[in-house]
Order: sequence, then structure tokens, then C-alpha cells
Amino acid sequence: MTHAPGTPRRQIKLFAHLLNTGNQMGGWRHPEAHDGGLHDIHYFLRMAQEAEAAKFDAVFFADGPGFRRVVGRNAFAAMDVGKLEPVTMLAALAMGTSRIGLIATCSTSFNEPYNIARKFASLDHISRGRAGWNAVTSTGENEAHNFNFDTLEGHATRYARATEFIDVVRGLWDSWEDDAFLLDKVGGRYFNPDKLHALGHRGTFYRVEGPLNIGRSPQGHPLLVQAGGSAEGRDLGARTADAIFTPNPPIDAARAFYADMKARAAAHGRDPAHLLIMPSIQTVIGATESEARERAAYLDSLIPPDLALSWLQMSLGGVDLSGYPPDAPLPPIPPTKGGHSLRQGIIDRAARYNLSIAEIARHVAATRLGERFVGTPTQVADQLELLFKTGAADGFVISAPWLPGALTEFIETVVPMLRERGLFRTEYEGATLRDNLGLPRPSNRFVENPDLHVEPEVWLPAEPTAGEATV
Ligand SMILES: Cc1cc2nc3c(=O)[nH]c(=O)nc-3n(C[C@H](O)[C@H](O)[C@H](O)COP(=O)(O)O)c2cc1C
Repeated sequence: MTHAPGTPRRQIKLFAHLLNTGNQMGGWRHPEAHDGGLHDIHYFLRMAQEAEAAKFDAVFFADGPGFRRVVGRNAFAAMDVGKLEPVTMLAALAMGTSRIGLIATCSTSFNEPYNIARKFASLDHISRGRAGWNAVTSTGENEAHNFNFDTLEGHATRYARATEFIDVVRGLWDSWEDDAFLLDKVGGRYFNPDKLHALGHRGTFYRVEGPLNIGRSPQGHPLLVQAGGSAEGRDLGARTADAIFTPNPPIDAARAFYADMKARAAAHGRDPAHLLIMPSIQTVIGATESEARERAAYLDSLIPPDLALSWLQMSLGGVDLSGYPPDAPLPPIPPTKGGHSLRQGIIDRAARYNLSIAEIARHVAATRLGERFVGTPTQVADQLELLFKTGAADGFVISAPWLPGALTEFIETVVPMLRERGLFRTEYEGATLRDNLGLPRPSNRFVENPDLHVEPEVWLPAEPTAGEATV
């Protein structure tokens, strides 16, 4: 494909998924995986700085406020436990980096919109326009038990809640117009009260008056990421998100997902180019293809089979497969109120490749679903180029199987190839995460539509009303 002079070149976007000691369930046991524990911010800082030096768009932190139920007392040694809270962590990473985006996962089921709006606006100020929020509905029963719920809310309710939650957060982010703060010492005017807007939200799940007590942030709205793949998740993402995380299914399914999301975005009146589709990619790289395969087999040998089965059962919504022989096919799996698309993706994959219970369990534990790219740097770069150029992806979430070394390998071997092919930047294009992703800065809803203005309740009347204390 030739590139017309003067038009911006479409290039691959890259996020680094810094999931503890790696995205492969046995990755933490790799001899070179980080072994200093996960409470050490410098470990994450070094990886963020390395990704920044390689000009990645962002680092991404998955999260859930609780454990997932699995067998074995040492089950998720380094996948789920011993973690720093991600927004807190990103505030620290913001001070040790200057260009790379900082994306954290926070649940819409187990937070309040005001708190989330405030935290990410703060992070956007602290990082000077590099903050992103991965909004998830959460699928864990155990997470629900940490937040006054006896049980996880149903799927439809979680998405209805998420839809309202995100609308409230975005409304709060517009509380202040960009030029509201005057800081006029001589005139004694700190801000222009006409440029401050309450929200006055009264909905099904939330009552939020506003305004937010922090000024509009450098990006206007921090980046919004969404990862739900069910019909409800897709629609929410297509309407509200800037980027969609998705597993990396076989390429025909990836293309169908991409086309579906772009069509949904257009149906919501959006420019489809402003919704980035970002599959999560796990790579195992070797100097030769056979070396890469050996390395993948070694990594997979680090996963205890009973742990893989347990993770599979949990991913399928808590089914009990212990009564089936490991080499049997998956039995019919009942619907679950947990995540829909991950469950369906596992069932589809097992059927497509005729996998036994043990085989699909090993696959999910190794990749957490999706195609894994095992091969030489050239082969991996070829795969990424194919997805990017044939309507399956706008960029990739690089989910290294073990950390930090497998990310370093990707950076040192695959990234230069993408660059040589003109597919990846040599320098950051802009100052903010949105700039680098080629996404517009959202306008302020109250400027766009003055009829939406709600007068803040914050002003005291000029004359004290009867009974009101005067200080
Ligand atoms: C790349 C990727 C990252 C994800 N990260 C998280 C996460 O950090 N926390 C979480 O609770 N869910 C995470 N999810 C799960 C989804 O957000 C979503 O909850 C799940 O897919 C169920 O949605 P669905 O019912 O619409 O399919 C992730 C999914 C993908 C594909």
C-alpha cells in the first residue's frame, strides 16, 4: 500500500499489558521472571520506562477488587494476588515517565461514579494528559462479596449500571469549562462561575448532583477503554469507548468483531476511526520457529494441570468438570451470569479445534484465550501486520507471557521490524495519550449544548436565610 504525502500514515498502536509477572499462568515460574514480589513500584516503573523508550502508546493494568475462586491454596501465586491498587500505582508511574499513556482498570459495579471521575481526572492532571480508564463490569462472585452484595448482580443489570455509571462520569468530567479558572489575583476572581456546571443526575442506580471538584483535565476526558464482548458490552463500548480490548480470536472472527464494532460506532453517529480495536496478543519468540515452539512448550509445562482445569471451570462460569475424563470433549456449558464473551469464546474454540477438556484448559491457562503467536520475530511481525492491514486490528495489547524479559524481547526484536516496515512510530506524535492515538479531544457537553446547564447548588445566597449560621 502506498502512502500519500501529506496524509497521516495509519500506524499500529501498542499497549504493554503489565500483568504482574506475566500473562501466562505459569509465567511467574520462569527462571528469569521477576522474583522480587509485586509490591515493588520500581519493578513496574522500570517496565513502564522501557515501554516508553520503545514509544509504546500506553501501559495497561488489569485489575479486580478481589480473588477469583480456584482450587489450591497457592493457586494464583502471581496472577491475581499481592497487587498494588492500579490508580495509586499509575500516579507514581506518572512521575517517573513523561510520554507514555497510563491505563488502569476500575469496576463500574464496585465503585461510585464521582470517585472514579475524580481519580482519573486527577491522574490526567498529574500525568499531563496521559490517563486512561478501562471500565469493566466485573464478573467475580468474590468481588461482589467485598462490596455489600450477597451475590453478583445479573449480566443485564451490570451493563445497565455500567451504562449509567459511564454517562455520569463523562458528565462530571465536563463540570468545568476548559477556561473556567481565571486565577485573577488583582480582580479577586479565582474562576468564572458561569463556566461551572452541575450535573443534576437522577437515574436508576445513581443520584449525582455534581459538579466535580477538580478542573477539566488535559485530555478533556481521560481515555475510555472497554473490554466486554457480549452484545451489551459491544454496544456500550461502541457508544462510549475510545479503545476496545478483545482477545485475539482466529483471524476470521477477529475481522468480524472489528467490522461489527466499527459498524456499531457508526450507528451511534461516531467516526469509526475513533474507536480503536486492540486485541490482546501473547507472543513467544525464538531465533528459529522450532526454538520458539520449545520455549512455548517449556512455559506451558510450568502450569499445573489441576490449576488449568480450575481456571477453565471458573472462566466458564463456575461449572464442575471434575466428573469428566480430561480427554473428553467439553460437555454442554450452562449460561452464566458472569462474563458472556469469554465463556462463549472458550466453547467456540474447543469446538472449532476439537479440543478435549485438558487441551482447552491448558490453552486458556496459557493464553487466557485467543491465538498465541509463536515464532521468529519476522513471523510475529508478519502476523501483526496481517491483522492490522486486513481489517482485524488498529493496534495490540502486548501481553507478554512472563515479565519483564518477554516484553524486552518483543521490544528488541519485533518492534524494530514494525518500524522498518513503517508500521510503528519512531517518535511520539503528540503530548497526550489521545494525541498519540490520533483521537480527538472531546468537547464539553455544556458548551456544546447550553440547555444542559444545571446551576450548581454550591453558592450560598447573598443574604443568609433564616436559621443559617453566619461565620
Ligand atoms: C484484554 C482484556 C482485558 C481485560 N481486563 C479485565 C480486567 O482487568 N478486569 C476485569 O474485571 N475484566 C477484564 N476483562 C473482562 C471484560 O472487561 C469483561 O468483563 C468480560 O469480557 C465480560 O464481558 P461480557 O459479558 O460483555 O463478555 C478483560 C477482557 C479483555 C479482553
